[in-house]
Amino acid sequence: MKKKIVFSTGAGMSAESGISTFRDAGGLWEQYPVMQVASAEGFRQDPELVHRFYNARRHDLVTKEPNSAHKLIADLQKDYDVRVITQNVDDLHERAGSQNVLHLHGELMKIRSIEHPDYVESLSLDNLDTTPETRGRNGDHMRPHIVFFNEAVPNIAPAMDLVAEADVFVVIGTSLNVYPAAGLVNCVRPGTPIFYIDPKPGHISIPNLTVIPEKATVGLPILIEKLRALK
Ligand code: APR
Repeated sequence: MKKKIVFSTGAGMSAESGISTFRDAGGLWEQYPVMQVASAEGFRQDPELVHRFYNARRHDLVTKEPNSAHKLIADLQKDYDVRVITQNVDDLHERAGSQNVLHLHGELMKIRSIEHPDYVESLSLDNLDTTPETRGRNGDHMRPHIVFFNEAVPNIAPAMDLVAEADVFVVIGTSLNVYPAAGLVNCVRPGTPIFYIDPKPGHISIPNLTVIPEKATVGLPILIEKLRALK
């Protein structure tokens, strides 16, 4: 029976792939008015602006590649039962080979029906742009498959269950600013080792925490050594 390692990753995981984080200097929320482009109200007020914002992020994403940290997590699947929970809407974990990825805040390369939110379609590389007039194959109006601020996070329940089953819980590249994602650290079973890889770690004081104050591509090899010691 392989040990179950559950990862919870944020924007810092994709920083070394060249994708902007949100709250670092020069981050996305310094460039864009977050509540206009990433909130339920903003989408109601100006859907055209929101579609354009996510179109631009998709065009950026398709020029990026997974970094060595994404690949190291995928490689761990040989020796561990690896589950990835991510706040990121990019597909870099999947493209690196991770099989079990749960997106808390949606997926940039997908769109979903407004009338029937469970109806989701994947965008293709030759069709990255959407507008408020975009229709799904079923005729419905479609929107970015993104969880906007002030919308529910349906995947938080399965994510909490995953963390509760973890033998090891690893948090990487998140400022721990946004709930409910940030609360996952409180869902581990008592005594479960928690690792937090981040060059400027957010403040958390919880038992069994080891902070690795490094960027992801440097912190992952250090983590892997520590995992071996846990065997
Ligand atoms: N490696 C690891 N971590 C890094 C790196 C790196 N190379 N570079 C930056 N970081 C860390 C920063 O120190 C910071 O703690 O990544 C974190 C990025 O924090 P945020 O920009 O707040 O991103 P995140 O925590 O993922 O934001 C959560 O907020 O806007 C919403 O929906 C959006 O999912 C996002 C959520």
